[in-house]
Amino acid sequence: MTNQRGAKKRAQFVPWRSAGNRTETGGSADEIVRSTGWVFNNETGSELTLEEFVATGNKEVRRYMRQFGFEGERLAPLTLLEIGSGIGRMTASFTEQCAHVVAADVDAAFLERCRETVGKHGRADRLTTTHVQDGSTLALADNSVDVAFSYITLQHCQRNDALGLTREAIRVTRSGGTVILNYRSWVFSDVLLIPAGILVRLLWRMPAIGKRISATRWATRFGWQANRLSPDEVLQDIIDHCQKSLTEITIYHSPFQVRHVSHSNAQVKSLKRVNRSHWWLVATVSGS
Ligand SMILES: C[S@@+](CC[C@H](N)C(=O)[O-])C[C@H]1O[C@@H](n2cnc3c(N)ncnc32)[C@H](O)[C@@H]1O
Repeated sequence: MTNQRGAKKRAQFVPWRSAGNRTETGGSADEIVRSTGWVFNNETGSELTLEEFVATGNKEVRRYMRQFGFEGERLAPLTLLEIGSGIGRMTASFTEQCAHVVAADVDAAFLERCRETVGKHGRADRLTTTHVQDGSTLALADNSVDVAFSYITLQHCQRNDALGLTREAIRVTRSGGTVILNYRSWVFSDVLLIPAGILVRLLWRMPAIGKRISATRWATRFGWQANRLSPDEVLQDIIDHCQKSLTEITIYHSPFQVRHVSHSNAQVKSLKRVNRSHWWLVATVSGS
Protein backbone atom coordinates (compact mmCIF):
# COMPACT_ATOMS: atom_id res chain seq x y z
CA MET A 1 0.00 0.00 0.00
CA THR A 2 2.77 2.43 0.88
CA ASN A 3 4.11 3.61 -2.43
CA GLN A 4 7.75 4.64 -2.28
CA ARG A 5 8.61 4.43 -5.98
CA GLY A 6 11.72 6.37 -6.86
CA ALA A 7 12.68 6.48 -3.21
CA LYS A 8 13.91 2.94 -2.66
CA LYS A 9 17.62 3.58 -2.42
CA ARG A 10 17.45 6.49 -0.03
CA ALA A 11 18.40 5.42 3.45
CA GLN A 12 16.65 8.33 5.15
CA PHE A 13 13.31 6.87 4.06
CA VAL A 14 13.94 3.60 5.89
CA PRO A 15 12.70 4.49 9.40
CA TRP A 16 9.58 6.21 8.06
CA ARG A 17 8.78 3.18 5.93
CA SER A 18 9.37 0.89 8.87
CA ALA A 19 7.07 2.94 11.11
CA GLY A 20 4.61 3.30 8.24
CA ASN A 21 4.48 -0.48 7.87
CA ARG A 22 3.79 -0.82 11.56
CA THR A 23 0.84 1.57 11.30
CA GLU A 24 -0.58 -0.78 8.66
CA THR A 25 -0.55 -3.86 10.86
CA GLY A 26 -3.93 -3.03 12.32
CA GLY A 27 -4.23 -2.33 16.01
CA SER A 28 -6.04 0.52 17.68
CA ALA A 29 -4.98 4.13 17.25
CA ASP A 30 -3.70 4.09 20.86
CA GLU A 31 -1.55 1.01 20.14
CA ILE A 32 -0.14 2.68 17.04
CA VAL A 33 0.78 5.76 19.06
CA ARG A 34 2.51 3.61 21.69
CA SER A 35 4.60 1.81 19.08
CA THR A 36 5.34 4.76 16.78
CA GLY A 37 4.81 7.95 18.84
CA TRP A 38 8.58 8.28 19.34
CA VAL A 39 8.98 8.47 15.58
CA PHE A 40 7.09 11.76 15.44
CA ASN A 41 7.87 13.74 18.54
CA ASN A 42 9.78 11.45 20.86
CA GLU A 43 6.57 10.69 22.73
CA THR A 44 6.83 7.40 24.59
CA GLY A 45 4.93 5.52 27.27
CA SER A 46 3.13 2.25 27.68
CA GLU A 47 -0.05 4.15 28.56
CA LEU A 48 0.22 6.82 25.87
CA THR A 49 -3.07 7.44 24.08
CA LEU A 50 -3.82 9.10 20.76
CA GLU A 51 -5.66 11.81 22.69
CA GLU A 52 -2.57 12.63 24.76
CA PHE A 53 -0.37 12.51 21.68
CA VAL A 54 -2.64 14.96 19.85
CA ALA A 55 -2.71 17.18 22.94
CA THR A 56 1.07 17.71 22.57
CA GLY A 57 0.45 18.79 18.98
CA ASN A 58 -2.40 21.15 19.98
CA LYS A 59 -0.12 22.84 22.48
CA GLU A 60 2.71 23.32 19.98
CA VAL A 61 0.41 24.52 17.21
CA ARG A 62 -1.18 27.12 19.49
CA ARG A 63 2.19 28.30 20.82
CA TYR A 64 4.02 28.54 17.50
CA MET A 65 1.15 30.05 15.54
CA ARG A 66 0.66 32.69 18.26
CA GLN A 67 4.39 33.47 18.28
CA PHE A 68 4.44 33.74 14.49
CA GLY A 69 1.53 36.21 14.42
CA PHE A 70 -1.44 33.92 13.78
CA GLU A 71 -3.45 34.77 16.85
CA GLY A 72 -7.18 34.61 17.47
CA GLU A 73 -9.22 33.95 14.36
CA ARG A 74 -6.53 34.80 11.80
CA LEU A 75 -6.28 31.22 10.57
CA ALA A 76 -10.06 30.77 10.31
CA PRO A 77 -10.49 31.67 6.59
CA LEU A 78 -7.16 30.16 5.47
CA THR A 79 -5.93 27.03 3.71
CA LEU A 80 -2.83 25.62 5.39
CA LEU A 81 -0.41 23.06 4.01
CA GLU A 82 1.45 20.91 6.55
CA ILE A 83 4.57 19.27 5.07
CA GLY A 84 5.45 16.13 7.04
CA SER A 85 2.17 15.66 8.89
CA GLY A 86 3.01 12.17 10.15
CA ILE A 87 -0.03 10.57 11.76
CA GLY A 88 -1.65 13.93 12.43
CA ARG A 89 -0.26 14.98 15.82
CA MET A 90 -0.52 18.66 14.83
CA THR A 91 -2.89 18.28 11.87
CA ALA A 92 -5.94 17.75 14.10
CA SER A 93 -5.40 21.14 15.71
CA PHE A 94 -4.83 22.86 12.36
CA THR A 95 -8.16 21.52 11.09
CA GLU A 96 -9.90 23.04 14.13
CA GLN A 97 -8.41 26.42 13.35
CA CYS A 98 -8.23 26.67 9.54
CA ALA A 99 -10.86 26.59 6.81
CA HIS A 100 -8.91 23.85 5.04
CA VAL A 101 -5.76 21.78 5.70
CA VAL A 102 -3.65 19.82 3.22
CA ALA A 103 -1.50 17.21 4.97
CA ALA A 104 1.54 16.06 2.97
CA ASP A 105 3.86 13.20 3.85
CA VAL A 106 6.36 10.87 2.18
CA ASP A 107 4.61 7.89 3.76
CA ALA A 108 1.12 7.08 2.48
CA ALA A 109 0.31 4.89 5.49
CA PHE A 110 0.92 7.83 7.84
CA LEU A 111 -1.54 9.85 5.79
CA GLU A 112 -4.19 7.18 6.31
CA ARG A 113 -3.61 7.33 10.06
CA CYS A 114 -3.59 11.11 9.84
CA ARG A 115 -7.09 11.03 8.38
CA GLU A 116 -8.15 8.75 11.25
CA THR A 117 -6.58 11.02 13.87
CA VAL A 118 -8.28 14.08 12.41
CA GLY A 119 -11.58 12.14 12.25
CA LYS A 120 -11.34 11.49 16.00
CA HIS A 121 -9.79 14.73 17.24
CA GLY A 122 -10.24 17.36 14.55
CA ARG A 123 -12.39 18.26 11.56
CA ALA A 124 -12.14 15.58 8.86
CA ASP A 125 -14.37 17.65 6.55
CA ARG A 126 -11.59 20.24 6.36
CA LEU A 127 -8.76 17.83 5.52
CA THR A 128 -7.23 16.59 2.28
CA THR A 129 -3.98 14.65 2.03
CA THR A 130 -1.26 14.46 -0.58
CA HIS A 131 1.47 11.86 -0.87
CA VAL A 132 4.97 13.27 -1.44
CA GLN A 133 5.90 10.35 -3.63
CA ASP A 134 9.45 11.35 -4.58
CA GLY A 135 10.26 13.09 -1.28
CA SER A 136 10.57 16.55 -2.80
CA THR A 137 7.63 17.44 -5.07
CA LEU A 138 4.17 18.51 -3.96
CA ALA A 139 1.27 17.47 -6.18
CA LEU A 140 -0.45 20.81 -5.61
CA ALA A 141 -1.19 23.75 -7.91
CA ASP A 142 0.77 27.00 -7.78
CA ASN A 143 -0.66 29.57 -5.33
CA SER A 144 -3.13 27.07 -3.85
CA VAL A 145 -2.51 27.62 -0.11
CA ASP A 146 -2.32 30.62 2.22
CA VAL A 147 0.18 29.17 4.69
CA ALA A 148 2.84 26.45 4.25
CA PHE A 149 3.97 24.98 7.57
CA SER A 150 6.52 22.30 8.41
CA TYR A 151 7.87 21.11 11.77
CA ILE A 152 10.67 18.59 12.49
CA THR A 153 10.54 17.29 8.93
CA LEU A 154 12.98 19.19 6.70
CA GLN A 155 15.89 18.04 8.87
CA HIS A 156 14.96 14.41 8.24
CA CYS A 157 15.17 14.62 4.46
CA GLN A 158 18.21 14.55 2.27
CA ARG A 159 19.55 18.05 1.85
CA ASN A 160 18.27 18.36 -1.73
CA ASP A 161 14.82 17.19 -0.70
CA ALA A 162 14.71 19.77 2.10
CA LEU A 163 15.67 22.52 -0.36
CA GLY A 164 13.26 21.13 -2.96
CA LEU A 165 10.39 21.07 -0.46
CA THR A 166 11.23 24.65 0.55
CA ARG A 167 10.94 25.77 -3.09
CA GLU A 168 7.72 23.80 -3.42
CA ALA A 169 6.31 25.42 -0.27
CA ILE A 170 6.93 28.83 -1.85
CA ARG A 171 5.52 27.77 -5.23
CA VAL A 172 2.22 26.57 -3.77
CA THR A 173 1.79 29.52 -1.38
CA ARG A 174 -0.11 32.45 -2.90
CA SER A 175 1.39 35.92 -3.04
CA GLY A 176 0.82 37.55 0.35
CA GLY A 177 0.74 34.14 2.03
CA THR A 178 3.20 32.92 4.66
CA VAL A 179 5.77 30.15 4.90
CA ILE A 180 6.58 28.82 8.39
CA LEU A 181 9.33 26.25 8.02
CA ASN A 182 11.50 24.56 10.62
CA TYR A 183 15.09 23.39 9.93
CA ARG A 184 18.02 21.98 11.79
CA SER A 185 21.51 23.47 11.73
CA TRP A 186 24.89 22.73 13.31
CA VAL A 187 25.42 22.37 17.05
CA PHE A 188 28.52 21.25 18.91
CA SER A 189 27.24 17.72 19.59
CA ASP A 190 27.17 17.15 15.81
CA VAL A 191 30.84 16.21 16.09
CA LEU A 192 29.51 12.88 17.43
CA LEU A 193 26.03 12.83 15.94
CA ILE A 194 27.10 13.18 12.30
CA PRO A 195 29.38 10.10 12.19
CA ALA A 196 26.88 8.10 14.27
CA GLY A 197 24.16 9.07 11.78
CA ILE A 198 26.24 8.02 8.79
CA LEU A 199 26.97 4.66 10.44
CA VAL A 200 23.32 3.99 11.25
CA ARG A 201 22.21 4.91 7.71
CA LEU A 202 24.81 2.49 6.34
CA LEU A 203 23.46 -0.26 8.62
CA TRP A 204 19.93 0.49 7.44
CA ARG A 205 21.04 -0.49 3.95
CA MET A 206 22.09 -3.98 5.08
CA PRO A 207 19.25 -6.38 4.37
CA ALA A 208 19.77 -8.68 7.35
CA ILE A 209 19.93 -6.13 10.17
CA GLY A 210 18.72 -2.92 8.55
CA LYS A 211 15.04 -3.67 9.00
CA ARG A 212 15.48 -4.67 12.63
CA ILE A 213 17.48 -1.64 13.76
CA SER A 214 15.29 0.79 11.85
CA ALA A 215 12.56 -0.17 14.32
CA THR A 216 14.64 0.76 17.37
CA ARG A 217 14.45 4.19 18.87
CA TRP A 218 18.11 4.78 19.75
CA ALA A 219 19.43 3.90 16.30
CA THR A 220 16.77 5.79 14.46
CA ARG A 221 17.31 8.95 16.45
CA PHE A 222 20.93 8.96 15.25
CA GLY A 223 20.21 7.88 11.71
CA TRP A 224 17.41 10.21 10.73
CA GLN A 225 19.26 13.47 11.35
CA ALA A 226 19.99 13.55 7.66
CA ASN A 227 20.91 17.18 6.99
CA ARG A 228 22.00 20.47 8.50
CA LEU A 229 21.11 23.69 6.70
CA SER A 230 21.97 27.23 7.74
CA PRO A 231 19.56 30.14 7.18
CA ASP A 232 21.94 31.61 4.59
CA GLU A 233 22.05 28.37 2.60
CA VAL A 234 18.26 28.17 2.49
CA LEU A 235 17.78 31.86 1.66
CA GLN A 236 20.40 31.72 -1.09
CA ASP A 237 18.79 28.65 -2.65
CA ILE A 238 15.46 30.49 -2.72
CA ILE A 239 17.07 33.49 -4.45
CA ASP A 240 18.80 31.23 -6.97
CA HIS A 241 15.89 28.93 -7.80
CA CYS A 242 12.48 30.40 -6.95
CA GLN A 243 10.48 32.54 -9.33
CA LYS A 244 8.83 34.18 -6.35
CA SER A 245 10.66 36.01 -3.58
CA LEU A 246 10.27 36.35 0.17
CA THR A 247 9.64 39.56 2.11
CA GLU A 248 9.28 40.23 5.86
CA ILE A 249 11.75 37.44 6.51
CA THR A 250 12.36 36.49 10.14
CA ILE A 251 14.73 33.78 11.29
CA TYR A 252 13.88 32.51 14.79
CA HIS A 253 16.51 30.61 16.78
CA SER A 254 17.03 29.32 20.29
CA PRO A 255 18.21 31.89 22.86
CA PHE A 256 21.06 29.44 23.55
CA GLN A 257 22.31 29.18 19.96
CA VAL A 258 22.70 32.45 18.08
CA ARG A 259 22.45 32.08 14.29
CA HIS A 260 24.33 34.49 12.05
CA VAL A 261 22.46 35.49 8.94
CA SER A 262 24.09 37.63 6.27
CA HIS A 263 21.00 38.02 4.10
CA SER A 264 20.32 41.75 4.49
CA ASN A 265 16.51 41.55 4.37
CA ALA A 266 16.20 39.06 7.20
CA GLN A 267 15.46 39.91 10.81
CA VAL A 268 16.94 37.51 13.34
CA LYS A 269 15.15 36.88 16.62
CA SER A 270 15.55 34.47 19.48
CA LEU A 271 12.51 32.57 20.63
CA LYS A 272 12.06 30.77 23.92
CA ARG A 273 11.68 26.98 23.82
CA VAL A 274 13.05 26.62 20.29
CA ASN A 275 15.35 23.60 20.32
CA ARG A 276 19.00 24.60 20.30
CA SER A 277 19.64 22.84 16.98
CA HIS A 278 16.50 24.19 15.27
CA TRP A 279 15.63 27.42 13.53
CA TRP A 280 12.51 28.71 11.79
CA LEU A 281 12.05 30.63 8.58
CA VAL A 282 8.90 32.77 8.71
CA ALA A 283 8.29 35.00 5.69
CA THR A 284 5.72 36.45 3.32
CA VAL A 285 5.64 35.16 -0.24
CA SER A 286 5.73 37.74 -3.00
CA GLY A 287 5.17 37.33 -6.76
CA SER A 288 3.17 34.79 -8.74
C1 LIG B 1 9.51 13.69 13.08
S1 LIG B 1 8.09 13.44 12.06
C2 LIG B 1 7.17 14.90 12.46
C3 LIG B 1 5.69 14.78 12.16
C4 LIG B 1 4.86 16.01 12.53
N1 LIG B 1 5.36 17.22 11.90
C5 LIG B 1 4.85 16.18 14.04
O1 LIG B 1 5.46 17.13 14.55
O2 LIG B 1 4.23 15.34 14.71
C6 LIG B 1 8.67 13.76 10.42
C7 LIG B 1 7.66 13.44 9.34
O3 LIG B 1 8.20 13.86 8.10
C8 LIG B 1 7.91 12.90 7.11
N2 LIG B 1 8.92 13.05 6.07
C9 LIG B 1 10.23 12.71 6.10
N3 LIG B 1 10.82 12.99 4.94
C10 LIG B 1 9.87 13.56 4.15
C11 LIG B 1 9.86 14.07 2.81
N4 LIG B 1 10.95 14.06 2.07
N5 LIG B 1 8.70 14.58 2.33
C12 LIG B 1 7.57 14.61 3.09
N6 LIG B 1 7.51 14.12 4.35
C13 LIG B 1 8.65 13.60 4.87
C14 LIG B 1 7.98 11.57 7.84
O4 LIG B 1 7.30 10.54 7.16
C15 LIG B 1 7.34 11.95 9.18
O5 LIG B 1 5.96 11.78 9.16
